[in-house]
Amino acid sequence: MRVLIVGGGGREHALAWKLSRTKRVRKIYVAPGNPGIAENATCVNILASDIPGLLRFAEEKKIDFTIIGPELPLAMGIVDEFERAGLKVFGPNRNASRIETDKSFAREFMGKFGIPAPSFRIYETAAEALKYVRTINRFPAIVKASGLAGGKGVFTANNKREYEKIVDQLLVQHKLGEAGNRIVVEEFLTGQEASVLVITDGLSINYLPSAQDHKKLYDRNRGPNTGGMGAYAPYPVNKRVANIIENVIIQPTVLAMRDQGLEYRGVLYAGLIVTSTGPKVLEFNCRFGDPETQAILPLVEGDLLGAMVAAAERKLSDEPLRVKNSWALCVVLASAGYPNDYRVGEPIEFKQKLDPGTLLFHAGTKMDGQQLVTASGRVLNVVTVHENLKVAKQRTYEAIKKIHFRGMYYRKDIGNTGMKKMKRRRRK
Ligand code: GLY
Repeated sequence: MRVLIVGGGGREHALAWKLSRTKRVRKIYVAPGNPGIAENATCVNILASDIPGLLRFAEEKKIDFTIIGPELPLAMGIVDEFERAGLKVFGPNRNASRIETDKSFAREFMGKFGIPAPSFRIYETAAEALKYVRTINRFPAIVKASGLAGGKGVFTANNKREYEKIVDQLLVQHKLGEAGNRIVVEEFLTGQEASVLVITDGLSINYLPSAQDHKKLYDRNRGPNTGGMGAYAPYPVNKRVANIIENVIIQPTVLAMRDQGLEYRGVLYAGLIVTSTGPKVLEFNCRFGDPETQAILPLVEGDLLGAMVAAAERKLSDEPLRVKNSWALCVVLASAGYPNDYRVGEPIEFKQKLDPGTLLFHAGTKMDGQQLVTASGRVLNVVTVHENLKVAKQRTYEAIKKIHFRGMYYRKDIGNTGMKKMKRRRRK
């Protein structure tokens, strides 16, 4: 089988690595890829947003199956275009992708079908949005740009002044362009966050191991939001919560999408918060999470490619994917200044060879001549798998000591919530 993966970050590296271990895969192309991915696949210099270029390439190379990593090409309708050309592709079509790409659609959908979620209001003008302070006036509140904003569209307003400033930036100054022309203002919820990813063909559902992302920049979940500073899997949930996730959130969502004529094939990612009154949906994403995928895929032992192809062909069975009874922990190494302005082009050095058990997924790297250098805010993902979460954490942080680039920043507490939860369980 000849496979094309669209994208060029840590998630796509993890996918390429996983598929490179699958016997029936003869050739893997990744567009555009990165120098790390080049160790598992052939990188092709086509941007993930260049749909005509990707289509031409897939036809020319007789690609059997294409997997879409990021949300942008899904929002642009890459799946519709590939299927129109008779090509097999993994991901939801443009309309079904709205569950991520149009946050007001997603919230109204959840409201209509009783999917547990925070209360919300949708506004299109500053005058309307300011009604919030005259009526509800509850802070902190979450303000989201309704459209895709490259991870920069979610804000926390701690008080009226901050809220008015965000409203001004989005609805008056249009700082996020069209993406911020409509905003969703949501109730602020507290609890532990969990990412639940499933593969679905619009009817059957295969669960991947759940994960916990760490979105804040600093330890103990402080500081600004980022694309994700690390993740571990599985995220331990009790039977009651798992039951709600399966029967009140995931299955009703997949079936309601179908009911609305939005057959959902691909990965459905539910970003949840487990509150004292049960899990609620913070967001749905229409793709694999990053960096969750880097922690999830090393645990999958079953036929991941088979499930993805079956989802695309509407033939998925409910047979669960076999997974390793272990933990995987991923730490993101980021550039100084991320998620705001950061320098790129810093040489990346490996002071010692990494242990063969350590996985290194490249997120934002490039070659400058013979030298590997930083090319983005999130640079590398270091991952270790072990039956004991504490050991997985120790080994990951030991491996990080062997890597250096100027300004390298990472969180030191990835996995701590999981260890605390396991300790509490043992005490009970
Ligand atoms: N880890 C967050 C995301 O993939 O959107």
